[in-house]
Amino acid sequence: MTSSAQNTLVLTRPDDWHLHVRDGAAMAAVVPATARQFARAIVMPNLRPPVMTAEQASGYRDRIRAVVPAGARFEPLMVLYLTDNTPADEVVRAKAMGAVAFKLYPAGATTNSDAGVTDLRKTYKALEAIQREGLVLCVHGEVTDGDVDVFDREKAFIDDKLIPLRRDFPELKIVFEHITTQEAAQYVNESDRFVGATITPQHLLYNRNAIFMGGVRPHYYCLPILKREVHRLALVQAAISGDAKFFLGTDSAPHASQLKENASGCAGCYTAPCAIELYAEAFEAAGALDKLEGFASFYGADFYGLPRNTDQITLVREDWTVPESLPFGEAEIKPLRGGEVLHWRLR
Ligand code: NCD
Ligand code: ZN
Repeated sequence: MTSSAQNTLVLTRPDDWHLHVRDGAAMAAVVPATARQFARAIVMPNLRPPVMTAEQASGYRDRIRAVVPAGARFEPLMVLYLTDNTPADEVVRAKAMGAVAFKLYPAGATTNSDAGVTDLRKTYKALEAIQREGLVLCVHGEVTDGDVDVFDREKAFIDDKLIPLRRDFPELKIVFEHITTQEAAQYVNESDRFVGATITPQHLLYNRNAIFMGGVRPHYYCLPILKREVHRLALVQAAISGDAKFFLGTDSAPHASQLKENASGCAGCYTAPCAIELYAEAFEAAGALDKLEGFASFYGADFYGLPRNTDQITLVREDWTVPESLPFGEAEIKPLRGGEVLHWRLR
């Protein structure tokens, strides 16, 4: 809800339904940024080695909880990494330790996905268990075939993988993560209640020109890659539609700046320091600030079957400059929009 002057925005505290925090000193550097705005976040398991067992997920959860700043109430929600060899029993153990989802990375699709799934049929026993236990399957929806154009990989995934998968597992809850295309938005919109989707701030704010504006801009490079303007517009329409299938997932993906500003730069935008502000900017630009709360604070919790948060955050209309660079363990990290002015600020 907005105040009459539109200078204050009070929201039920949001959750982040797609987040990377890494591990060790890097994790300690980034978790506080998320914990100050979000109550909960789904923590992606693409560590090296990946988080593949309930026991590893439990240990990782302990390490994350240990770096949440005193006074913040933040709960990491754990996701296990699905492999060709995930046993059905692991799904049962995952549910017992409180994990909420498994993550499907097609092998080679993105950062640390080498251990991912090579053939969906190999995972069918695990998928049956995920469906039966009522856990969610979070999906990185891109094919990995080198013959498929990098800008077409999401659409190809829908046709070649997702449609057959849903035919075989009609009651498997699936989140199509970080959707980037008109086709994905339409697919989710037309699906039944077992399908949801997350949308990142960068895909709402930018099209692929951002990657090449005045030279290669590695901090705008993420996977799935930014697409044409027509796709950005479709994502904005989905996000502001009030359709509860679409919800917030930043995909904040921190990498040390020297690994992004590199001959083979890593994929991932670090948005955690200003995530809710970026979403506010995108929703305001679309004239739909009143739709932000459902997207950010209600629909994801509803999809996952978790209670909505009851406390609130306040954003104020106030110019501030995102830090250009921040400490990241031994290294430094450059947030998206670093050095630039934002007009909303979390109080
Ligand atoms: C993510 C990362 O760095 O872990 N990168 C990205 O570009 N989004 C992985 C992912 O979510 O694809
Ligand atoms: Zn991600």
